[in-house]
Order: sequence, then C-alpha cells, then structure tokens
Amino acid sequence: MNAALRAIVRTALNFGHTIYGIKHGYEGLINDDMEPLNAGSVSNIIKYGGTVIQTARSPAFLTPEGRQKAYENIKKRNISSLIVIGGDGSFHGLHELILEHGIQGIGVPGTIDNDLYGTDFTIGFDTAVNTALDAIDKIRDTATSHSRLFIIEVMGHTSGYIALYTGVGGGAEDIIIPESPVDLSKIWARLNMGRARGKKSSIIVVAEGERTGGAAAVKAHIEKYSDWEVKVSILGHIQRGGAPSAFDRFLASRLGYEAVFAVMRNETDKMVGIVDKAVTLTPLAETWTKKKDLDLSYLAMNDILSS
Ligand code: F6P
Repeated sequence: MNAALRAIVRTALNFGHTIYGIKHGYEGLINDDMEPLNAGSVSNIIKYGGTVIQTARSPAFLTPEGRQKAYENIKKRNISSLIVIGGDGSFHGLHELILEHGIQGIGVPGTIDNDLYGTDFTIGFDTAVNTALDAIDKIRDTATSHSRLFIIEVMGHTSGYIALYTGVGGGAEDIIIPESPVDLSKIWARLNMGRARGKKSSIIVVAEGERTGGAAAVKAHIEKYSDWEVKVSILGHIQRGGAPSAFDRFLASRLGYEAVFAVMRNETDKMVGIVDKAVTLTPLAETWTKKKDLDLSYLAMNDILSS
C-alpha cells in the first residue's frame, strides 16, 4: 500500500493537485483526521509493508449516517475526488458514498486475497505468497527430519489464490481451496502412495476459507485413516506484513500512477486494474459481483508435480 500511496501522491503533485492522506481509512474521513501530503511525506516508504497513513475496518462507514459525516468533511475541505486503496469491503463503501453523495472516486486493488474481478493481481498478493513460501520451506525441514505431515493454513478470506500459488511453489503434496470440492480419501491415499515410494515428508496447504472445517478437520480425518504424525501450522498475519516484493512494488507504482490519470479523465466509481499487461477500468460493483477466475487445472498439474 505504501508504494501505491507514494505513486498517487507524487503523480498528483506533478499535475499541480493538492493531496490529503486520510488516516485510518474511512475512520479518518468520518473524524476529519487527514493531512496534506508533499513529495517528502512519501520518501523511502516504498520498501515498507503496511501503510504509513494507517488503515482500519470502519463499522461506522457501513451506515448512511457515517457516510454523511464523511461527506461533510470532504465538502468542508474542498476535496473533489477520493482514491481508495483496498479490497471489496473498501470498494463497497466507496461505491455507496459515490451513489449517495455524487463524489468522484477511484479504487486501487490492495488485498492479499487477489479476489477482485478486473485485475490479474492485487497489491500484496505476491508478497503474501512469498512470505508463506518462506515459512513452508522452513517447516519442510522439520517435516523431513521427523517424517511428519504438516497441514499449513494460509489466508485468503474466501479465495484460494494464496493457497494455490503457495502450494504449487512450495511443492505441497495437496492443496485444499474453496473453489474445488475436497476428496479427503483421495488425499490420504495419495499421501500413503508418496510414503510407499520413499517420501520423507508431506505438506498440505489449506486455504482458510475452504469448506471442510479448516486445517483441524483435515488433520482429524487423516489421523483417522492413516498413521501419519500430523502437525498443523496456521501462518496468520505474517502474510500481511514485511517488505513488499519487487512485483508488488512495481504493480502498486503503476496502479497508483494510473489511478491519478483516471481521476483526471473524470472517471468515477471504477477500479483501476491490470489485465494482460494493459491498464483497465472496471465498475466498482463488478469487482465483487463478477467472479474472478482461478484456474483449477493447476490442481491437476500439482498432483503430478508433487507425486
Ligand atoms: O482480506 C484480507 C485478509 O488478510 C484475509 O485474508 C484475512 O482473512 C483477513 O484479511 C484478516 O483480517 P483481520 O486482520 O482484520 O483479522
């Protein structure tokens, strides 16, 4: 998010605009907690995770009254347009604000879940996958030394993107994601086959949103039908922090830059994205109503690669 913020601020200043950083997301709009940013305000932030202007989940902004207060502060400060970096929750809020008060608004896709329609990748996804991979590589050492099976749960809300990319990249023996039905008996049969051919360890990556009951349920099932020693590891919030990857810094820089151009072209109620290397604008409502494709053939590929 910092890389996107830097790009937005520097591009807007380049074209002579005044730009405010709103603190704590929509909470800052409601509480009039914002400050003008200059080129120096965003110096050297590109290499840091998180966001220097901070963010928050804002229950108040879910209400028309909260959005009315936010709009009054926007008017008071003569703000003409909003650029919101976030996921579907942030975009829902922006869409409502635009409908109710006619403010101009553009979304920039920032979520580790990569679940927004209208862009191949969202800011943060690549870094999260790399962090999860680093953890899996380390866990693999224990798994191999002790001949254990590890079930590793990764984030992603209701999307299996992080699990799929992490699983393939980490050589996971199986990947369980919400987008695909799970056949647990197939999973333990494959584990036993792997062991019979001399495998010393196995890893199953499970998406937090999968539907069989999470890592604990998968562990219980496998322990019932095999004699594997099973350990569960839930990676959690380490996936949301740390220095952003080169890919994410480039993506965020490009999207932030393009978001300012979208504002200057008087676009509104749209998300800026990149699809097949080209910059796209997608109506905000489509980013959550249309389903982003996740290529399930990668699961079959992984079955072969990890056999
Ligand atoms: O939507 C992004 C995400 O990181 C999900 O992958 C995860 O389930 C959730 O946010 C965690 O949110 P919080 O930090 O509020 O618990």
